[in-house]
This record gives sequence, C-alpha cells and structure tokens, in this order.
Amino acid sequence: MSLFVNSTERYHREEMDSLGWELTVCEMLARPDSPCRRILREPRSFGSALNAFLSKFIAWEGVSTVLEVGGGYGSLMRDLLAERPGLHATMLDISPFLLARQREALKGTGTRFLEGDFFGSGKEFLGGFDLAIFNENLGDFPTVCGITPGALQGKSTGDDTLNAVRGLFARYALERPAAGSFAFNLGALRAVEMLCETGVPRIYMSEHSCQARTPSEYGGLIDVPFAESPERIGLRGHDEYTIRFSHLEAVARAHGYRAHRGPYADFLEFDLTPELNFILAARSCARDEHEAIRQFVEDLFKYEYLVLLKDVP
Ligand SMILES: C[S@@+](CC[C@H](N)C(=O)[O-])C[C@H]1O[C@@H](n2cnc3c(N)ncnc32)[C@H](O)[C@@H]1O
Repeated sequence: MSLFVNSTERYHREEMDSLGWELTVCEMLARPDSPCRRILREPRSFGSALNAFLSKFIAWEGVSTVLEVGGGYGSLMRDLLAERPGLHATMLDISPFLLARQREALKGTGTRFLEGDFFGSGKEFLGGFDLAIFNENLGDFPTVCGITPGALQGKSTGDDTLNAVRGLFARYALERPAAGSFAFNLGALRAVEMLCETGVPRIYMSEHSCQARTPSEYGGLIDVPFAESPERIGLRGHDEYTIRFSHLEAVARAHGYRAHRGPYADFLEFDLTPELNFILAARSCARDEHEAIRQFVEDLFKYEYLVLLKDVP
C-alpha cells in the first residue's frame, strides 16, 4: 500500500504567486459592498456574524486571550476585534506573506504575530488561550490518502504516518469505511487532539465538509454532495481535502468536550427571496455577481463549523 500526504510547502515561500487558496467564505464577505453580504438577512462581515453566533455558546466576559491559526488576510480577526476590542489576539501563521497582510489588516489593535507551523506549538503556548479559532484552514493540514481497512490492522510498522493513523483510529474508536481505500484527515485530527489534550476551553473550527448535505428545501436549487470520507478538491497549484467532521467531533467528545456542529447557514442566515430563487433556479449568469452569489449560497451548506467547549459555563 502506498500512502500519499498532501503538503503545505507553498505557504513557506516569501512571495506567493497566487493566493494559494480559492476565495474563502470569510473573504467573500470581507468588503462592505460585497454582493454576498447583500443576500444575508443581516448584511455584515464574517467576523461580525461569528461574534453574534458564538455569543450563544460563549460568555465573552470569560475570554481575554484569543489565538487564530491560519488567519489568511486577517479579515476575520479585524472584524471580530471591532466587536470585541477588549480581546488580546495572537495570530499564528506558517506563511510570512500572509502574516504581513495580517499585520496591515490588524494595525493598531495590539495583536501579536507569530510565524510558525501550528504543529510545532507546544502545550505551554496553547494552554495560555481562552479561545482558539481555525477558520477554513483544516483542509490545508495533511490528509493521508490510499488507506485500506486492512492497513489499519496488525502490529506497528516502520511507517510513522501509518502508525499515526492507526493510533488515532485505536484511541478514539473512529468509524471506518467497510471497504475500498479512503482518505483520512490526519492533520485536522491531530490539531483537535493537541487542543483537547492542552485543555483549551473554547475552540471554533470550520472547513469544507465531506458530510454536508443539500437541505430538502433547496433540492434542485443547489448541489451539496455528501461523501463518507474526505474528497480531493483540486485548487490552483495544489490539492486540498474536505473534512470528515464526525471524526473531529468524536475526538473532542472523548476528551470531555461539548460539541455544537452545523452548516455556515446557521449563522449566515438568508431568505430565499424571488431574486435569489431566480439566481439559483435559472443558474443565472446575467450579471457577474450572480455566479458569486450562487457559489456563496452553496458554500453556506458545504462548510461546517464545530464549536467545542470544556469546563466553561
Ligand atoms: C485557506 S487559508 C484560510 C484563511 C482564513 N482563515 C480565511 O478564512 O480566509 C489557510 C491559512 O492557514 C495557514 N496555514 C496553513 N497551514 C498552516 C500551519 N500548519 N500552521 C499555521 N498556519 C497554517 C495559511 O498560511 C493561511 O493563512
């Protein structure tokens, strides 16, 4: 059996020749004149909507320090800090290029910027945060492809990657496909395990899920394919993989965390107006913005969030 692991090498480059990712949902809402903001019941930025949504689960007075890993252009933190100026933010990113963009976006907010790989961060560092945020970056973390059910059995091998995969399946009794080879979100699961072992009390994560579904009321209007295991998404110059959120949830619950999970549409709410119905049903490209809106609405169901809480009211 040969395993393949995708890599984040492109982020180490000083100059990136492309953004390195397709436009995230967060960035689709970053500009005040974004056509995607217009269709929301409450037109606002991603960070502002997330603040309102997290308030349902989090007592903000208990949150002083917040870590965002892989903050891209810094838009989420900029807009969260606009709502919560008392937070002490730290941005950890592997990319010097994107860290520079974050410095610009967060100028004057007192934010701390650290260049490094999340997987190199220790318990002492992570243990200092009241809240950790990972937005639309789990798909960047290593995913192992070509695993077979048979490979998960037997004694430890000389292959560190396979041993790490086997260890996670064994420690958390993770569900596995009955047959065929499959992909496994090794990096995303390691990230959840690291945070849970450290005991970070509040964790928010989101990413393109393989387990999302088209809601019945939007059947025929949008297409959200379901898959049991992570699927490859070919992007400009690299591949990413969708995330099997049920595995992340299982790891967190095993560590005693409460988990809230659902599609972005839970906190980026919209109404199916006659105009939106036309854009979706007719697959309209009458205006440039129609295509962007259709993509945005599909993403509201393709992307899932996970809020994990431990030992906090
Ligand atoms: C797809 S972008 C998401 C950006 C942003 N969170 C958003 O929602 O627009 C992925 C981000 O994760 C960062 N990243 C990827 N792997 C990382 C790692 N191992 N440690 C720290 N940052 C990482 C990238 O540099 C980039 O900022």
